[in-house]
Amino acid sequence: MLELLAAAMRCLLKALSIVSLHASLRRSRQLCCQSSPAQTPFSYELMKQQYRPEVPEYFNFASDVLDRWTEVEKEGKKPKNPALWWVDGDGEEVKWSFEELGVLSRKAANVLSGACSLQCGDRVLLLLPRIPEWWLLNVACMRTGTVLIPGTQQLTAKDILYRLQKSKAKGIITDDSVASAVESVEADCQSLKFKLLVSEGHREGWLSFKDLLKNAPSDHQCATTKSQHPMAIYFTSGTTGAPKMTEHSHCSYGIGLTVSGRYWLNLTSSDIYWNTSDTGWAKAAWSIFSAWSQGACVFVHKMPQFSPPAVLESLSRYPITVFCSAPTAYRMLVQHQLPSCTFNSLRHCVSAGEPINPEVMAKWKAWTGLDIHESYGQTETVLVCGNFKGMEIKPGSMGKPSPGYDVKIIDENGNILPPGKEGEIAIKVKPTRPLFLFTCYTDDPEKTKATVRGDFYVTGDRGLMDDNGYFWFVGRADDVINSAGYRIGPFEVESALIEHPAVAESAVVSSPDPIRGEVVKAFVVLTPNYISHDPEKMMKELQDHVKKATAPYKYPRKMEFVQELPKTISGKIRRTELRQKEWRRY
Ligand SMILES: *[C@@H]1O[C@H](CO)[C@@H](O)[C@H](O)[C@H]1NC(C)=O
Ligand SMILES: *[C@@H]1O[C@H](CO)[C@@H](O)[C@H](O)[C@H]1NC(C)=O
Repeated sequence: MLELLAAAMRCLLKALSIVSLHASLRRSRQLCCQSSPAQTPFSYELMKQQYRPEVPEYFNFASDVLDRWTEVEKEGKKPKNPALWWVDGDGEEVKWSFEELGVLSRKAANVLSGACSLQCGDRVLLLLPRIPEWWLLNVACMRTGTVLIPGTQQLTAKDILYRLQKSKAKGIITDDSVASAVESVEADCQSLKFKLLVSEGHREGWLSFKDLLKNAPSDHQCATTKSQHPMAIYFTSGTTGAPKMTEHSHCSYGIGLTVSGRYWLNLTSSDIYWNTSDTGWAKAAWSIFSAWSQGACVFVHKMPQFSPPAVLESLSRYPITVFCSAPTAYRMLVQHQLPSCTFNSLRHCVSAGEPINPEVMAKWKAWTGLDIHESYGQTETVLVCGNFKGMEIKPGSMGKPSPGYDVKIIDENGNILPPGKEGEIAIKVKPTRPLFLFTCYTDDPEKTKATVRGDFYVTGDRGLMDDNGYFWFVGRADDVINSAGYRIGPFEVESALIEHPAVAESAVVSSPDPIRGEVVKAFVVLTPNYISHDPEKMMKELQDHVKKATAPYKYPRKMEFVQELPKTISGKIRRTELRQKEWRRY
């Protein structure tokens, strides 16, 4: 395999000398398409030393990375895996090589700059389910310099109106299921110039993507985009407040996410990488840049909704080597263990989005033999902390800072706190702001400024660093419970609860209390075998369990058994919603 990679590298360098380009561009490309070093054991310090990304003046992921992999592929210098491997579970399958992806995305780019009249810098809303066109249009937007605004299909007409008005998008690209919602609000969207329909068939007032694509020419000159010009805007779903427009430049995700691909996901061009999370989620683009920067295959399974048996079946049926899922999904998977499923190709697992309970990690490991490598990041950032492949994992910890950032725990005045002290997780932005960070909240200098305290960008998440430099998540700043002077992070209590066989899931929030100010309240979803148990006894048993599993003052004084928990579309528990209900109740 190493020989192959070395060959890929040689071929790349050859291609480089033919196409003479900006000298700095050459360096950025090395970073994206570089081969892995000799198989020496992983060293965090070495990774930090080696990681020296350079950002050229101009950068475009489509021409600078994807088209390079096409050349490597054409010369037969990379494994035969496709770039995109899509299945729908009903026997439909799409496999695109880097070359095919290149041809199709150039055609799609011609649709965007032709029939849709998009100019470099224009904004477009993309609301599609997990279909191959989602990836195609992502790349087409890079090629035309279109600023992409992805969103989920679950958006209502009101949400769509809000997004179209806020972003002043020139166009919307979606399918039949959302088309009528768009039509119901378009009269109020002055900037909207076109609607592009990706479904089969035609619809009055809409351009047909399939027709246009068929007839589009396949040669297209990729836009020359400055590294620091906007590439995408993500409306953050957030657990609080109205969605904000988080703007990222071409180099931010495009170069910044090579860290995830290489060191956290441990991907090479021989890997097949599956991320079960939905395309609607703001950070769906992470998969594109992490995987394709390394020449890995992106595997996609279109499922109407997350189904544990279907996921397990695919994981054992297809040669998936690296797997990513949200903690909620892992919680469901370990509850649905199918002994008949064996995962022969699987070699590396990661999770992101929320911390994963140590209990779930242990169960997954007992079953598959693999650790789950957690990481921490936000829509505003690339990878902030990670359990990089090869590093010792401390279950429940988000790992160590990414080499791309200087991460610290700070207090309310922006002072750095020593190990063991809880504060806010922050990234150093002075004197120089890292380029792999969002550029701003679009049109909102106030909110953008509010994210900076002293020399730091503050994440809004509380955590601490231990003596070994590992970071631990405590909770969203607003989620931390303050009971009679004790500060209690919901995650710890939830992790203690889930160790008990009766608990499938839980959400811990504060609840008002006349004496303590606030107390810990747990909303608990029981596992099927325990649903009919006496609630009083069950509560007592779980309280005793938590008192034993963690510091006794953290036990939930109040408890409510529920059928399910409110979640964001990316599967994060909406603690804010539960907490607000709780406080309104009294
Ligand atoms: C997986 O996808 C989700 C949402 O689409 C995203 O937030 C996450 O960052 C992705 N993970 C990786 C490792 O690419
Ligand atoms: C993958 O991880 C191993 C350690 O487990 C390391 O030796 C190897 O270099 C990593 N590969 C890449 C591409 O970073």
